[in-house]
Amino acid sequence: MTQDELKQAVAKAAIEHIKDKLKNDTIVGIGTGSTTNFFIDELAKIKGSFDGTVASSEASAQRLKSHGIPVYELNAVDRVTVYVDGADESNDHLELIKGGGGALTREKIIAAVADEFVCIVDASKQVGVLGAFPLPVEVIPMARSHVARELVKLGGLPEYRSGFTTDNGNIILDVHNIEINNAIELEQKINAIVGVVCNGLFAARPADLLLVGKEGEVFSVTRPGS
Ligand code: A5P
Repeated sequence: MTQDELKQAVAKAAIEHIKDKLKNDTIVGIGTGSTTNFFIDELAKIKGSFDGTVASSEASAQRLKSHGIPVYELNAVDRVTVYVDGADESNDHLELIKGGGGALTREKIIAAVADEFVCIVDASKQVGVLGAFPLPVEVIPMARSHVARELVKLGGLPEYRSGFTTDNGNIILDVHNIEINNAIELEQKINAIVGVVCNGLFAARPADLLLVGKEGEVFSVTRPGS
């Protein structure tokens, strides 16, 4: 199977996982990225079986609308039953690095609201220790240099994502070489730097279920003890 076929397989598995939970009034949270795009295309096939969606990026909103799937503002909905999104890395605790596509802040907001967070990945995203993938940090533009200096103090090597502006009008610093031994603690420390909007560690609110496409099959992973 190609990587795209694996992504499609996990997207279909996510549909299987959620389809019995969908009702007329259900709102589905939608992530961002190539794996999520496969999920959106699969969701379109059952679009009559739920109310609509909230989207974590303009790109996902456009794709949903192109399929005729309703997209609501998050403030207009009371509840998000399930959030489905990809990731750049996941460890065994389903703590994630996200934001390779730059949509981390809206992704984190919808993940926080959702009753359940289903993460869909191919096996290349499963790691023992997070951090080989550079950690994205969304920053208010005027704070760029200050935040970069503070990230260096935390042991990282921040790199400005040149020519990229988030949907929120901010910039991204991608942090290389940062040791992530305690993801929850590092997530809090980076968020505490003035000028940081959000960082791509999803540890305080990890995924609830990881669907992994590997060697032609899809495996389910849950958090230890859950
Ligand atoms: C978007 O900002 C990211 O968090 C994506 O969810 C992540 O980069 C995974 O994207 P792919 O499915 O394209 O690998």
